[in-house]
Amino acid sequence: MKPTVTVTHNFPEVALEKLRDRAEVLYNDSGSSLSSTDLIDRAGKSQALISYLTDRIDSAVIDAGGDHLKIIANYGAGFNNIDIAHAQKKKIWVSNTPGVLHETTADLTWAMMLSIARRIVESDRFTRAGKFHGWQADMFLGGDVHGKTLGVIGCGEIGAAVAKRALGFDMQVLYHQRKRLPSAEEKKLNARFVPLEVLLKESDFVTLHIPLTFETKYMIGEDQLAMMKPMAYLIHAARGKVIDDKALVEALKQKKIAGAALDVYENEPDLTEGMTDLDNLILLPHIGSASVATRDTMALLVVDNVFDALDGKTPRTLIPNWKA
Ligand code: DGY
Repeated sequence: MKPTVTVTHNFPEVALEKLRDRAEVLYNDSGSSLSSTDLIDRAGKSQALISYLTDRIDSAVIDAGGDHLKIIANYGAGFNNIDIAHAQKKKIWVSNTPGVLHETTADLTWAMMLSIARRIVESDRFTRAGKFHGWQADMFLGGDVHGKTLGVIGCGEIGAAVAKRALGFDMQVLYHQRKRLPSAEEKKLNARFVPLEVLLKESDFVTLHIPLTFETKYMIGEDQLAMMKPMAYLIHAARGKVIDDKALVEALKQKKIAGAALDVYENEPDLTEGMTDLDNLILLPHIGSASVATRDTMALLVVDNVFDALDGKTPRTLIPNWKA
């Protein structure tokens, strides 16, 4: 008999096809998230659960997996939606999708940097509204990107891919994270390891690429924003709760920093009051890894992890620090 695999949300056809070769697929293609009751019900019937970062996989869902659920395979690099400690205790594997989305997410980060500094979104709105009546020397003046200082908070796969691109823009790169990179890696990226405070004070662009953990929650709040240069920009495509969004709105309102571009939100998908009134803020709907090719590759990796688990093998991309 074929094993049963739940797919909680829309999933690329190429990966579904591969999955259907070996499994009965309980596929939610309704376009809406499953309720927690539905998640519990499906976990109760499945050998593998393919989850979205918007699905809350808590202890009740994990317990419903009983002895039959082998793996929770998250469709994304982040996995803060899963009760990892509980899954570990129940000996249910948890995998994610590292190594395949960092370049695409770095591309988006750069798109955000360039767009906020050069006021691309504002200019587009202005042009569409029929307000462009001819060239003017002082129209939509923005900040430069080339030659500036880029501060990368979290220089893992995505942060390093962002830093690598800065070489072509003649930028100085500062980075901060818990552990310093090996010196060969620093050299390759031309990046200098500094304390967070120094990074915030010296950077013209601050970009966040850290996971959401107990330590990183609200890492950027009023005090940190106050340390940034008035002409600096904040870019965020990691996890919403790393920033205190109310403090950010206040800082942008009062022009304490020049601008920000967000792909993720503290209370995602809800926006914090005041955000949509700000011209110096770009708002994106969590599209960091959203290229056709990358989403397909991520999904195929998810399926590989599921097949590994169903074959009794250790899944190839277990979440970091998994204790066997
Ligand atoms: C991830 O993979 O965690 C991203 O946020 C999805 O774009």
